[in-house]
Amino acid sequence: MYRTNTCGELNSSNIQQQVCLCGWVQRIRNLGGMTFIDLRDRYGITQLAFNMNTNAELCEQARKLGREYVIQVKGKVVERFNKNKSIPTGDIEIDVTEINILNASKLPPFTIEDHTDGGDELRMQYRYLDLRRNTVLKNMVFRHQLAIETRNYLNQLDFLEIETPFLIRSTPEGARDFVVPSRLNIGQFYALPQSPQQFKQLLMIAGMDKYFQIVRCFRDEDLRADRQPEFTQIDCEMAFVTQEDVIQLFENLFIHLFKKLKNIELNNFERISYHNAMKRYGSDKPDMRFDMQFVELNHLLQHRDFKIFNEAELIIGICAKGCGSYTRKQIDELTDFVKRPQIGASGLVYVQCLDNNTFKSSVDKFYTQEDLQNLAAAFNATSGDLLLILSGKTEKTRKALGELRLEMGNRLNLRDKEHFKAVWVVDFPMFEWDEETQRFYAKHHPFTSPKPEDVALLDSGDIAKINANAYDLVINGVEVGGGSIRIHDRDLQKKIFRTLGFSESEAQQQFGFLMNAFEYGAPPHGGIAFGFDRMCAVFNGIDSIRDFIAFPKNNLGRDVMINAPYQISNEQLKELSIQINYSEKDE
Ligand code: AMO
Repeated sequence: MYRTNTCGELNSSNIQQQVCLCGWVQRIRNLGGMTFIDLRDRYGITQLAFNMNTNAELCEQARKLGREYVIQVKGKVVERFNKNKSIPTGDIEIDVTEINILNASKLPPFTIEDHTDGGDELRMQYRYLDLRRNTVLKNMVFRHQLAIETRNYLNQLDFLEIETPFLIRSTPEGARDFVVPSRLNIGQFYALPQSPQQFKQLLMIAGMDKYFQIVRCFRDEDLRADRQPEFTQIDCEMAFVTQEDVIQLFENLFIHLFKKLKNIELNNFERISYHNAMKRYGSDKPDMRFDMQFVELNHLLQHRDFKIFNEAELIIGICAKGCGSYTRKQIDELTDFVKRPQIGASGLVYVQCLDNNTFKSSVDKFYTQEDLQNLAAAFNATSGDLLLILSGKTEKTRKALGELRLEMGNRLNLRDKEHFKAVWVVDFPMFEWDEETQRFYAKHHPFTSPKPEDVALLDSGDIAKINANAYDLVINGVEVGGGSIRIHDRDLQKKIFRTLGFSESEAQQQFGFLMNAFEYGAPPHGGIAFGFDRMCAVFNGIDSIRDFIAFPKNNLGRDVMINAPYQISNEQLKELSIQINYSEKDE
């Protein structure tokens, strides 16, 4: 037997017991007469004590150990002289009688402590060492618990967990696929699934009724803090459900998860239409922890001498409470913020609400004090507030002000990580126009059903006005999940593909397997998928999902630990009939 106990469980009730522990040497403190070692494993830290006076040889042996050596020790649990109340084992230590080195360790490239000296790249390169750190380990434990709780909850509601294939075919409409060449079918490729969307719909046609899967998905898209090329979804689908049924069931799942894992009552879910989310917050994933809604100002600010506003499609602003005394420098910072290329505003107009109903603004030349007073009234602003105003094309201006709103939320500490606010965004438009390719795309995906009352618009009318039975769950400004009621009728599905520019034969060739299945008794169905990594991060108030993935990729999609992706051998290339001429240097 390697060990009798873990390093996290012994306490004063074990005093006088003979024990055997295994773990990693976290720290050695040589105090002359006494030497102490912190022995660490996944469960905690136990202090080992060595007394120079009673066993000098053993004490010398302990002093020669290095950080991260793997050792086994035998000894007696004794009461500690200086108790450490901050750890569960802090009342005791082990009076060691024997040390066995199970494996030596090179000096680790960074300290394995909560606050490490290792940079991001180095920690990713030695991720197995990074994972030994308590902060990262804690995230892995959380992830595990979230998965178990979700499984149990859905199991108890009769959901079946069913695996769907990873080697599927590439279909258009979505992000870019990762593809895998087929050796047995030369010149042909599998694609890794971006989600099990079509399979889960087929499972409904197969009569499975309620399906879920905690499943890896793959998307070849540009990476950000909340996006990885491979990520995990809690993917769900149900037959015979309305949008309301799906929303209710998963709202309850989230209430359950927050209670169970965070001891938080998350019961005031809001609902907002996509249209209103864009109009009021400039985002389809509004952070509702704070208000600061947009006020539309065209009627108040146009038709004066200010050309920029007169020519603007939309003029909107926000009121930053208590920021009226911002200095020139602070306002310049905000102007620079909105002018950054990612945001793209051409400038920022500000109005400072001073005492006695007086105002100071960057547009004093064009507006009287009375004009500015009316403006302030539109925001319900009072003295000491700062109005920030942007103008331009509607969509772009809304998005830019949405970013500025979040920035002000940060500056005013309105985005408390311990406070959670969930909102369902509903009534998404079915289609979205893309300027670059000059065509409509499905806003969610092409299997989403239009609202029944809007179906007629497919034949005659403005298809941009069609709304879908689609919904997103947003928590603290993060889209944690999205889903829809699906089309289950072949003719309607065909019509959607036609609207998206597919000829009948293209649609049949790409999606025939699903449309054919619709002809064999497809039940009405709908579902949702949650970004599992994002859920982990949001529950813990952390921005990066990487912290919750054991072996994540960097921003170039590389695994720097195993150095992937990597070229394959010429033999492999030959087998696949792929011609690449690696230069000698590459080889
Ligand atoms: P969607 O594409 O909205 O819907 O994805 C569902 C959720 O998955 C998460 N997500 C990601 N997380 C990390 N990295 C990524 N690259 C990434 N992309 C998406 C988000 C998102 O809300 N099949 C549909 C769902 C359905 O209709 O049932 C789908 O995949 O949290």
